[in-house]
Amino acid sequence: MSGEAESGKAQLAFDGRTVDLPVLTDHIGQRAVDIRNLRKDAGLTAFDPGFANTVSCRSGVSYVDGEAGRLVYRGYAIEDLADNCTFIEVAYLLLHDRLPTRPQLEQFSVLMNRHSMIHEDMITFFAKYPEHAHPMAVLSAMVVSLSSFYPELEESESEELDITATRLLSKLRTIAAFSYKKSIGEPFVYPSYKLSYCANFLNMMFSSPVRDYPMDPMLVRAMNQLLILHADHDQNCSTSTVRLVGSARVNLYACIAAGICALWGPLHGGANQEVIEMLELIHKQGGNVDGVIEKAKDRKDPFRLSGFGHRIYKTYDPRAKIAKRICQEVLGKLGVSDPLLDIAMRLEEKALADPFFVERKLYPNVDFYTGITYRAIGFPTDMYTVLFALGRLPGWISQWQEMVRDPEQKIWRPRQLYTGQNNLPFVPIDKR
Ligand code: SDX
Repeated sequence: MSGEAESGKAQLAFDGRTVDLPVLTDHIGQRAVDIRNLRKDAGLTAFDPGFANTVSCRSGVSYVDGEAGRLVYRGYAIEDLADNCTFIEVAYLLLHDRLPTRPQLEQFSVLMNRHSMIHEDMITFFAKYPEHAHPMAVLSAMVVSLSSFYPELEESESEELDITATRLLSKLRTIAAFSYKKSIGEPFVYPSYKLSYCANFLNMMFSSPVRDYPMDPMLVRAMNQLLILHADHDQNCSTSTVRLVGSARVNLYACIAAGICALWGPLHGGANQEVIEMLELIHKQGGNVDGVIEKAKDRKDPFRLSGFGHRIYKTYDPRAKIAKRICQEVLGKLGVSDPLLDIAMRLEEKALADPFFVERKLYPNVDFYTGITYRAIGFPTDMYTVLFALGRLPGWISQWQEMVRDPEQKIWRPRQLYTGQNNLPFVPIDKR
């Protein structure tokens, strides 16, 4: 799709003068005032903490329609992709802006397998982490360390990016599984070229030298769908982090490591772990959801209902709808009756009937149901955000690739309103 057209102007009138500002309109009708010359033409900057009203870039990777509750990856609806694709197929779509043919997908999978091991010297790093180390800390440190073992990308074009992207996609999965094995004191299970991306991951996570892991095609399917749900989400906090760090032209591994750290936050990807901890606490306290609802409504209490609310979605997050269905299917087929699912559904029902949540358009987001499914599959709670990172990785790489190729992109360097002191006379230390 081409860029947006300039459609008319906005006028800024102040101090007795007016400044014309171009208005840009993209091909789906979103409009943005172009303030790139605001400081030069008007001596003004724009104040927008949290960037809720700021467009940072032009992007074609994904589109979130927060009012309609729609999510599109490279033009395809998330529902179609989750129902019909594998995660690697969607990763290819995000990276190449087209769904792969069968030969292209096979070639991508061969590359994925070829790069699935990490350097044996990196394996020694795990020995020095304490068992209780959070896997997101391990993941980020290991990813930035990949830049010491593998060449930095000279340019973002050509198959060099393909190799780096598949190297990251494949090795992140191995590092994630190894961090889990390290935390339970079990030997690492190496990747197998005989298994698909998600089957390989489940095998590395849950098999061991003393027990086989019976591969359940239903769980492999569910893992593919869950990773697809997380693959990209326009300019969210961690993606913006990858773009910001990338704008300084540091290598891709360092950008991804920064994105992992941003995702770890409980207001962002870390919410999927917070949701389970919140549901477990409700369960331990007898399963009554009213107290949590009232606590979340109390403006004096910093507590927020984890897995609820969203900067962009002002209706049900389409990913949460799919995640809820997957959750019910997986627990049903496994014959798991998890009280946390019942609590989550009662919490949702109560909140969606409460004026506080209705007025603020607070609905379940992608993090509300995913943890219950991960729990049924056997993942420990502190691995949930790692799974989010595995899913988001192709989106981060695609957004980084777009940023480095964008001729308009410069190093990100916002301005500030200064609140500190000024022109203080210096006082030598002996006179302080
Ligand atoms: C992800 O951006 C993305 O795309 C992210 C993501 C992705 O795919 O990358 O979708 C993944 O991060 C999903 C969000 C996961 N986080 C959580 O579930 C944490 C709980 N949610 C909230 O902290 C909050 O909803 C945020 C952080 C998600 C959004 O915060 P905003 O947009 O800054 O909203 P806000 O703080 O301005 O809230 C508006 C009002 C406030 O009340 P008032 O001041 O108007 O009285 O709604 C209230 C908030 O206090 N509110 C909540 C709430 N979320 C917002 N009140 C109770 N519980 C909540 N969850």
